[in-house]
Amino acid sequence: CGIVGVLGNIEAAPRIVDSLKRLEYRGYDSAGVATLIDGGLVRRRAEGKLRNLEAALERSPLSGTSGIGHTRWATHGAPTLSNAHPHQAGSVALVHNGIIENYLELRDEVVGAGAVLSTDTDTEVVAHLIDLARTRGLSPREAVAETLPRLKGAFALALLFAGEDDLMIGARKGSPLAIGHGEGEMFFGSDAIALSPFTDRITYLDEGDWAVLTRDGVQIFDRDNSPVERPEAKSSVTSSLMDKGNYKHFMAKEIHEQPEVLGHTLSRYFDYTTNTANVAGAEKLNFNKLSRLLISACGTAYLAGLVSKYWFEKYARLPVEIDIASEFRYRETPVSGNDAALFISQSGETADTLASLRYCKENGAAIGAVVNVPESTIAREADMVYPTIAGPEIGVASTKAFTCQLAVLAALALQAGRERGVLSAEREQELVSELTEIPSLALKALAAESEIEKLSQPLSKADNALYLGRSTNYPLALEGALKLKELSYIHAEGYAAGELKHGPIALIDENMPVFVIAPYDSIYEKTVSNMQEVAARGGRIVLITDRKGAEESGGAAENTVIMPDMSDIVAPIIYALPVQLIAYHTAVFMGTDVDQPRNLAKSVTVE
Ligand code: G6P
Repeated sequence: CGIVGVLGNIEAAPRIVDSLKRLEYRGYDSAGVATLIDGGLVRRRAEGKLRNLEAALERSPLSGTSGIGHTRWATHGAPTLSNAHPHQAGSVALVHNGIIENYLELRDEVVGAGAVLSTDTDTEVVAHLIDLARTRGLSPREAVAETLPRLKGAFALALLFAGEDDLMIGARKGSPLAIGHGEGEMFFGSDAIALSPFTDRITYLDEGDWAVLTRDGVQIFDRDNSPVERPEAKSSVTSSLMDKGNYKHFMAKEIHEQPEVLGHTLSRYFDYTTNTANVAGAEKLNFNKLSRLLISACGTAYLAGLVSKYWFEKYARLPVEIDIASEFRYRETPVSGNDAALFISQSGETADTLASLRYCKENGAAIGAVVNVPESTIAREADMVYPTIAGPEIGVASTKAFTCQLAVLAALALQAGRERGVLSAEREQELVSELTEIPSLALKALAAESEIEKLSQPLSKADNALYLGRSTNYPLALEGALKLKELSYIHAEGYAAGELKHGPIALIDENMPVFVIAPYDSIYEKTVSNMQEVAARGGRIVLITDRKGAEESGGAAENTVIMPDMSDIVAPIIYALPVQLIAYHTAVFMGTDVDQPRNLAKSVTVE
């Protein structure tokens, strides 16, 4: 979820909506605003996308110069109107990002004290606790100070109080919250992006902090309620809203931006005059001393990490332990000061990835982060940031951030190989000169789009699909299946091609499209054998390969998508493009919401 608070001098509601547009990447199940009008709390809320809230506000506008807003990704309680934030209890309205884990227990308590609950959320109980404290005669500040220590779980909160026109209180534990400083105005926001329309002067709250805003400034308290100072920083996030250019969807635009943004990212991490990897700050990870590298991430970013495992092990002889962040964080794996850990995240805000980072940090590991949003929480908490230069990614399904993550990870793997003395200077130069071909190869790969569009139409009628690949194309098979699921809602699975015979081959029949990702490389023939096994059972094969691979495929494929010739290290980056295009065009044929698929959020800030 995304939250915003405005304590200003002009009408607050339009400003809140403007900010929420930038926070929609955190969820779009419902949205709402509350403002203070003549001392009274008034709310407008709507189910679904933010545009529904905008319409509600057009029908009945809200005046008031102070207010709070929310865009929701539902956790507790269906995404209905009554469960939409802000929640109100008597004299208190609040917005929340996170999960209050002990809400059932607290709910019994407030109901026992006479509160009437009107939602299924975990959040409403917080409003009641504070309101009950207020009716006992506590000031807003005292009521908040008393309530916060009672909340278990993760939260960022922004609170508005009836009758208090120059007051807003916010708190953060586990979920991020930033303060924006204006001229005679103050703001809360989930991140610098939310605050960008208002100010570039930002203070980030630390874990456990809470803050009291008036129009003149802020007072910050730590978890023990002692006043603390937190530094003000200048944000470089621009306030312009992204547009789609000539494309129908952000996703299409972002797919087509890849030749360019890959070029930017590569030139940051490779020295083309010497053809070497040149990653600033790589020394922080102590590659030459490591016995293993830990990698943790979620979703598509995890799959980028999985590709890099093959690279780190092959080119740097560095064993990689990689895990999905939601598993890693509770696995209690031994981590020590001898370890280095890499966290990969487009948004830099994903709750599970952040928790994994903190676990490794507490245990003394060196922390590197590959992120696309340089001012994000993960970037701020890492010892070293290796940014992807992908530019803002708006489509919920990650595309250009994924391939740029791969470019950064390739550089890190080659640098690790050099520092560990296992990659010769000649081999490094050879590999880097191959990687420099990426922007032009990406352009050539995009030329297959019309072919892909054609074969996506029949696919849009399938109920299931399989993706197969080996080596670095195995994570791409997983990515292909993930993309198809999230965009078109067609059930899809990715498998290591060699694993097919151990179970999933039972699924093959003439209704099952099977995508085989197989450049003509050293294990091409093995993958082709697996493809023949599919063909023998009537599966409908789409082979993604190169010219030579098409010639050698033995005619098993119903459709073949031809990629340009390229070397092994480049292949997973370039083959990602047809995989993205297949999911994109299938979704377009199905008429689903490509940029904001149902039930998803771009960045999931709860665990
Ligand atoms: C969400 C998105 C995925 C994304 C994942 C990790 O689930 O829908 O597309 O890969 O989060 O996000 P991150 O910002 O950490 O890369």
